[in-house]
Amino acid sequence: MRTQVAIVGAGPAGLLLSHLLDLEGVTSVLVECRSAEYVKSRIRAGILESGTVELLKEVGLGDRLSEEALEHRGIYLQWPGERYHLDFVEHAGHPVWVYGQTEMTADLMKARERAGRPAFYQVDDVALHDISGDRPYITFSDAAGRPQRVDAAVIAGCDGFHGPSRRMMPTAGRRTWERTYPFAWLGALAAVPPSTDELIYAWHPNGFALHSMRSPQLSRYYLQVRPDEDINGWSDERIWEELAIRLGHGQDAWSLQTGSIIEKSVLPMRSFVTTPMRHGRLFLAGDAAHIVPPTGAKGLNLAVADVALLARALGAWLRDGSEALAHGYSETALRRVWRCTHFSWWMTTMLHRHGDDFDAQLQLAQLQRVIASEAATKELAENYAGLPIGR
Ligand code: APR
Ligand code: PHB
Repeated sequence: MRTQVAIVGAGPAGLLLSHLLDLEGVTSVLVECRSAEYVKSRIRAGILESGTVELLKEVGLGDRLSEEALEHRGIYLQWPGERYHLDFVEHAGHPVWVYGQTEMTADLMKARERAGRPAFYQVDDVALHDISGDRPYITFSDAAGRPQRVDAAVIAGCDGFHGPSRRMMPTAGRRTWERTYPFAWLGALAAVPPSTDELIYAWHPNGFALHSMRSPQLSRYYLQVRPDEDINGWSDERIWEELAIRLGHGQDAWSLQTGSIIEKSVLPMRSFVTTPMRHGRLFLAGDAAHIVPPTGAKGLNLAVADVALLARALGAWLRDGSEALAHGYSETALRRVWRCTHFSWWMTTMLHRHGDDFDAQLQLAQLQRVIASEAATKELAENYAGLPIGR
């Protein structure tokens, strides 16, 4: 089979790239090792920046989003004795939106099916070939076990942190940076209305807690735990008790509504960046090139920003013969990647218990500063609410 862009990985990065390339008049084939059902139901991120929402609407993916996404003006920042509402609209000029990655993935899959763009799910043994030459191709066995080959002008590695694409990049000239945090998140999804109108980020002596949501009936919670935490030690009762302690702020009659927990798991926290994001005819996008800890809600938005740039660059190259944007892709994308890497690291280190009591006092001093100073509030708001896409 021949196409212009062979896309490895059908997560949000790969699916959106195939959609945007279609609009650029560029053909693509998607290759994914999991089943479509698995990809669709994978519970991940939930916050979209305004820039992400605008892009999705512009490219015809906004119908259900406009109906169902919840507009949030800001977040609550909390520590014992204080719950402060930080307003992004006031301080950064735009809100964020609650819309689960599962919903965005479903919209993207539907658009792909409607347009009849080819995709292979449940493939095995994906291998990338000749990425340094002019005729790259990928090989794999399809869901029925038949060997397949896709020849392309370009390969897009959208296969996440564990996929094969990044490992194909030559080591010469390659640099990677990594930070593994000494804590993890226990994530829980519950069929219960949120006990808050907007997200609560809570510093607490027992550890960080986050109250998020997916819809008016579905809440998402996180608790800071040890990296080697055994999920079996966390009964639903223990999760609710700990959430009530950490999310309570001791000021008014606020209480946490409990209910049935649908899913729970422990998620590692790391920062990771590899550069450059291009070698020859292989381009990396999304988690294949970088990981941020989830504290600033940047991972999904970064993946969207990468493929927005990449689609434009590949359109200009493969349709019009101009390679300038493709040459600049890695450098341009990495400016945003490092900004978000810094912001996610900063939010993470400010809000999680680590170190000693001296560190705790520094964190509280920083949190006080964020709400006391217009400049410090604006800095957090602008980073969280997001830069315009395409920069
Ligand atoms: N062959 C084909 N597909 C693969 C392979 C492989 N060998 N290895 C991994 N994949 C697929 C995964 O199954 C997954 O569907 O690549 C896809 C990568 O998707 P994500 O991990 O979601 O990464 P990305 O699309 O870059 O999205 C990043 O989504 O979940 C969040 O935290 C993530 O917010 C970040 C954003
Ligand atoms: C989520 O809802 O999953 C979520 C929200 C905000 C974050 C991280 C995760 O910072």
